[in-house]
Amino acid sequence: ATMDIDIVSVFPDYFEVLNLSLLGKAQHKGLVQVEAHDLRNWTHDVHHSVDDTPVGGGAGMVMKPEVWAECLDDLLHLAPVEDASTLEKPETPNEETVLIFPNPSAPLFTQADATELAGKKHLVFGCGRYEGYDARIPEYYRLQGVDVREYSIGDYVLNGGEVAVSAMIEAITRLMPGFMGNHESIVEESYTGENALLEHYQYTKPATWRGLAVPEVLLSGDHGKVDRFRRDEALAKTTRIRPDLIEALDCHALDKKDRKE
Ligand code: ADE
Repeated sequence: ATMDIDIVSVFPDYFEVLNLSLLGKAQHKGLVQVEAHDLRNWTHDVHHSVDDTPVGGGAGMVMKPEVWAECLDDLLHLAPVEDASTLEKPETPNEETVLIFPNPSAPLFTQADATELAGKKHLVFGCGRYEGYDARIPEYYRLQGVDVREYSIGDYVLNGGEVAVSAMIEAITRLMPGFMGNHESIVEESYTGENALLEHYQYTKPATWRGLAVPEVLLSGDHGKVDRFRRDEALAKTTRIRPDLIEALDCHALDKKDRKE
């Protein structure tokens, strides 16, 4: 399965970094095609303006719907609709394509979202800048039956969607079959599997370094003991720094020997 990713931004050069490293290799292998588009290519005025003042007042600028729609109609192969208020939301939205807007005022993007999106054929990301984008843009495409998502990557505010989109693309594409050589390293990592604990600490050689020793049990060769030690460590670590993940745990995912902290 291959995936096409289109990104729309007023800073398309920002996405040059996606040609590096593992994602660059995946593109070379033909597993994923990433294209970054300059939103200003869809403007018609001499100033190439993409934003305007907020209706109702307030600071900053808001991205205009007209320019975005011309661009997204092209990328999604949709004909413009004169009066979208008459559209009834179709019952079966397109399952292969997802339109995604990063937005600090949206649900958090999680590993579960990344896993689901890794199975899609076509992702289109729209990067907002300034104070945001006109709310009718996602609304219009939802009315046309497009699967539209808005996600925040964390409870902090960035200057625009570019960093958020890079993070989401990296989280999604690394889960595509064939992307990584070692599939186990995905199965065992944090936030995945039946039980979303933080990962246990990792050590490599030497067994003692600058006076600091690797935990003895890891050198024992007893896989049962090693697994138990790591699981206890993961539970204790998660309880300490992410109690919200412990709260959210499905208690059936805990085994009988998991100790109470
Ligand atoms: N745009 C600005 N801040 C953001 C955030 N935290 N997540 C997603 N998009 C954003």
